[in-house]
Amino acid sequence: MPGVAGDLLVRDLSQIVSPNGAPPPLRGRALRDVELLEDAFVLCREGRIAEVGPMRALPDGASDLPELDGSSLCALPGLVDCHTHLCFAGDRVAEFALRSGGATYEELHAAGGGIVSTVRATRSAGADALRKTVRDHAAWMLATGTTTFEGKSGYGLDRETELAMLDAVRAEGGIPTWLGGHAVPPEFVDADAYLDFALDEVLPEVAAGRAEAADVFVERGAFDAAQASRYLTACKEAGLDLRLHADQFTEAGGIELAIELGARSVDHLEATGPDGVAALAGSDVTGVLLPIAALFLDRPMPPGRALVDAGAAVALATDFNPGSAFCESLPVAISLACTQVGLGPEEALTACTVNAAHVLRRPDRVGRVAPGYQADLVLVDAPDWRHIAYHLGGDIVRTVVRAGEQVEPLRAGPGERTGAEAPGA
Ligand code: NIG
Ligand code: FE
Repeated sequence: MPGVAGDLLVRDLSQIVSPNGAPPPLRGRALRDVELLEDAFVLCREGRIAEVGPMRALPDGASDLPELDGSSLCALPGLVDCHTHLCFAGDRVAEFALRSGGATYEELHAAGGGIVSTVRATRSAGADALRKTVRDHAAWMLATGTTTFEGKSGYGLDRETELAMLDAVRAEGGIPTWLGGHAVPPEFVDADAYLDFALDEVLPEVAAGRAEAADVFVERGAFDAAQASRYLTACKEAGLDLRLHADQFTEAGGIELAIELGARSVDHLEATGPDGVAALAGSDVTGVLLPIAALFLDRPMPPGRALVDAGAAVALATDFNPGSAFCESLPVAISLACTQVGLGPEEALTACTVNAAHVLRRPDRVGRVAPGYQADLVLVDAPDWRHIAYHLGGDIVRTVVRAGEQVEPLRAGPGERTGAEAPGA
């Protein structure tokens, strides 16, 4: 008998880990206080988690549901990537090679490469190709455990392409953010002239339901704090949530602006010093750590440990994009958070599940393995869930469940893969 869509029993799991249930964003000690169950099940009904518990408490009748055998697997909540630029055309491999020879990201940007070179490719791609890039990148993200993703525009910087990017993100199941303040495109004499255009011609369309938030890159060579303030204030008045790229290379007033305007988040923070840490800790703004971008550009890591210790709300994301972070994997971000930023596996997990869901205003829907949440699970092939952090770049995501449906086929475990019966052998 075919089951109801989204009905599933995942049974005999070695471990289930979930961030604790205090209202997000979690801060301080609560970031570490994960719930852990051993020899356990997750029962999903109609795409939501109905019950979670030890196998000995499996309710009668549960075995009528379609089953997924979780033996020797650990279940984590579906991961939430709250900061990506997954919609773009072309690549920046030539720039990557120049950087490996010593050129810096900022030099390439100033010379008309960098973000603006991706803008050229993205403008000429067309809506169908943009949608395909989102689909392809989202599939890679899903294979590493990301079941909820945000996607920014910002590589169009004209009306048509910006809207096409936002529509592509939405159509492929993502949460769109208008990064109208990413760079000044070459047809405008300066940032102010570009912002006149963006706020007059693009914002009204964006705010009519095409994006949930607006974002701006506060940095020398991009937008200064006054320009960012003008952009964000107009976006806030139009009903959008606010996000900022700030303190990536220099402290340029982004944290202060984020706090003043009540932004959801301020992201990057590689250059943030003690005053910024203290200000953020005393605010409701979530600091989003992007350690892949710091590694990829050989920059200092963000002060994540200091932020957590000072009581700030922190989230963790990939920043996936073609220039500064060509890596779709939140497990890699989790590993780097542990080895480079000083977070523990529990803190890193909480940062890219419930705290990321808070940034995206979905705190009660995604990010926990608990009744009432969307039935999104990552099943890892390891004896302890912390292998998601420990196994750097390891291919340990065995399968992914989204809304109670298994969306990634079960893959052979490492032992099976090397044997004579390995797939494709
Ligand atoms: O978050 N810093 C600005 N924006 C992106 C990079 C975009 C790009 O290089 O294409 C970031 O790192
Ligand atoms: Fe970014």
